[in-house]
Amino acid sequence: MCGIVGYIGNRQAGPILLDGLRRLEYRGYDSAGVALCGASGLHIVKKAGRIDNLRQAVDAAQPEGTMGISHTRWATHGPATDENAHPHPDQGGKLVLVHNGVIENYQSIRDQLAAKGHVFHSQTDTEVLSHLVGTFFDESTEKDGTQRLVGAVKAALDRVKGTYGIAVMHAELPGVIVGARLGSPLIVGLGKNEHFLASDVAAVVNHTRDVVYLNDYDIVIITREGYDVQSHQGTPAEVKVSRVEFSADDAEKGDFPHYMLKEIHEQPQSLRNAMRGRLSRDECTAVLGGLNMTPRELAQIDRIILAGCGTAYHAAMVGEYLIETLSRVPTEVEIASEFRYRNVPANKNTLQFVMSQSGETIDTLAAMREGQRKGIRCLGIVNTVGSTIARESDGGVYIHAGPEIGVAATKTFTSQVTILTLISLLLGRIHHLSSVDGLEMIDELEALPDKIVTILKQADKIKAIAEKHCHAEGMLFMGRQANYPVALEGALKMKEISYIYASGHPSAELKHGVIALVKPDMPSVFIAPDDAVFDKNVSNIEEVRARKGPVIAVTTEGRTELERITDDVIYVPECPGYLTPILNVIPLQLLSYHTAVARGCDVDKPRNLAKSVTVE
Ligand code: M6R
Repeated sequence: MCGIVGYIGNRQAGPILLDGLRRLEYRGYDSAGVALCGASGLHIVKKAGRIDNLRQAVDAAQPEGTMGISHTRWATHGPATDENAHPHPDQGGKLVLVHNGVIENYQSIRDQLAAKGHVFHSQTDTEVLSHLVGTFFDESTEKDGTQRLVGAVKAALDRVKGTYGIAVMHAELPGVIVGARLGSPLIVGLGKNEHFLASDVAAVVNHTRDVVYLNDYDIVIITREGYDVQSHQGTPAEVKVSRVEFSADDAEKGDFPHYMLKEIHEQPQSLRNAMRGRLSRDECTAVLGGLNMTPRELAQIDRIILAGCGTAYHAAMVGEYLIETLSRVPTEVEIASEFRYRNVPANKNTLQFVMSQSGETIDTLAAMREGQRKGIRCLGIVNTVGSTIARESDGGVYIHAGPEIGVAATKTFTSQVTILTLISLLLGRIHHLSSVDGLEMIDELEALPDKIVTILKQADKIKAIAEKHCHAEGMLFMGRQANYPVALEGALKMKEISYIYASGHPSAELKHGVIALVKPDMPSVFIAPDDAVFDKNVSNIEEVRARKGPVIAVTTEGRTELERITDDVIYVPECPGYLTPILNVIPLQLLSYHTAVARGCDVDKPRNLAKSVTVE
C-alpha cells in the first residue's frame, strides 16, 4: 500500500521519479506527488488520482532538480485529494516527507503540535511526521547537516507508534535523502554516482539491479556518491547487496492490453519455473532445499498450519486437501489476519507455512511472527525475492512466478498450488507414497504447462460467455473438495475486478440457503471435473436449472453430457483430481477478466484496492 521512490544523482529527478511511480502504481493509485530539490529550491507537485494526472501537472510546472522524493498513495487517513497527497512539508516548508504505513498515535501528536501553533493542511496521519521531523531538525544544535537530519528523523520516529517506510529531504541539504523503515518495505538501489530509495525493486530495476533490502529499524542515508545504513540505535546495520532476478521488460505489459491478461497467459511458463530443478526422477520426489529440513525432521512433523490472505489463503485451502490426501499429515488453514489474534496450540512438531505473493502482507507477516513467538518453525511460500517474509522466515520456497503487477493475483495462485503439490509429494514420499506413485505425480506435474496452453486457446469462447453474463446482478461459484477453494477464488476474481457481487460455496451447501438467490440474472458457475463427486455436482446443477438459474460449467474434456443441462461448458484437459484446481482456475480467471473488460472496468487497478496490503 502506497509506493515510495527517491532519487539522488546527476540526472533530472522528475522523469526518473514519475517512471518509478508508474511501476509502483499497483501499490495504490488514489493520488501521487513529487518533491524535487534543485538550484531554485524545493518544488512540490501533487495531484489526486492516477500518475497520469501528476505527470500532466509536472509537465505544466516543469520543476527541476537532481534529487527528489515521490509517492503514490492508497488512502488510509483522509480521502483522495490534492491536499492529502504526499509529499508533506513540515511547518517551515523546507523539509518534505513521504510515508507508507500508518501512524497510529497521529491524533495526539497533531493536537500537541497544533497547541504550539502548527498548522496542518491535510487529514493524513503522515503530516504529523513531517512536522515532527522538521521541529526536531530546527531545534537541533548538531553542526553536521546530515547528522542533524538523521537525528531529527530518529527523534521523530521515537515518538510515533505504527508502521512506516519513509523518505525525507531538506531544502538546505541538497545532497542527502534519509530513509527509514519499520513494517513497510524499503530498498536502496545502487547506481553509479546515483542512488535510489523505493518500496519495491520494480521502481528501480530499469536503472540498477543491485539493491539492498532494508530491515525494520534501519535508517539509511543516500547521497550521490554512496549510502550508509545504520540501525535506529546508531550502530552499523547488516547490509547485503542482492541482485534482482528479473529485468525491467519482465515488468512491462508487452503486447497485452492488461497485465492481468499477460499474467494469465504466462502460467505455462510460471509453472515450469516453479518446478524447475525441484523434481527428482531418480528419487521420485520433490527436492526443496530451501526448507532447510532433513527428511528425518520432516518425518517428525505431525501438524501443518498454512496461513495467508485473499488468493494466497485460497491456495492454502487447496494445500490442505493436497497435503492431507497425499501425505496424511493433519493440516489446518488459517486466515493470516485472524491467526495473529488466536491462540493456536502448537508443539515442536508443528510446521507453519506462510503464503504470500508480495512477502509483505502485514497480516501474513504478523501470522509468521506470532508462529515464531510460539516456537513454531515458519517457512515462507513467497514470490518476491528479498521480501520481508522471505528474509524473516526460517526457510521456504520461492515460487519464481516473476513480477505480478495486475492487482488480481493469477499466476501466483497456480504457482503457489504447484509448490504445495511439491510439498505434498515430498511429505507423501516420506510417509506412504511409493516410488511408482511419486514418479506418476512427477509425470502429471510436468504435463500441466501444456494442458494450460490448451485452456488458454479457449479464450475467445470464454470471452463470449463473459459478454453474455456481464450485466448479471451477481454470480455464484460452486465446487466440491479441492475445487471449493477454486470456487472461492473464482468469486474473489469476479468481485475485485468486475464489481459484480459473487460468492463461492461448496456445491452441496447450495440447498442450505444459497439457492434462495438463484434466478435468471444470477448465473452459477459450477466447477465439476470428472471425479468421484461428478454426479453429485450434476444433481446440484439440476437444482439450479429447475429454478431457471443460468449455469456455466467447467468440466473435464469428454464429459459432454453437461451440455444438455447447462448454458455453457468450458472443457479442461483430464488430469488427476489433486491437480484439477490448477487447471480449473484458469477459465475462471479469464471469465472474470473478460467480464471486467466488457463492463469497462480498470482491470489492473480495481477501485479501492492495492496489490500489496501493508497496513492492518
Ligand atoms: O501478496 P499476498 O499474496 O500476501 O497478497 C494477499 C492478498 O492481498 C491478495 O491475494 C489479494 O487477495 C489479491 N488481490 C487477490 O486477487
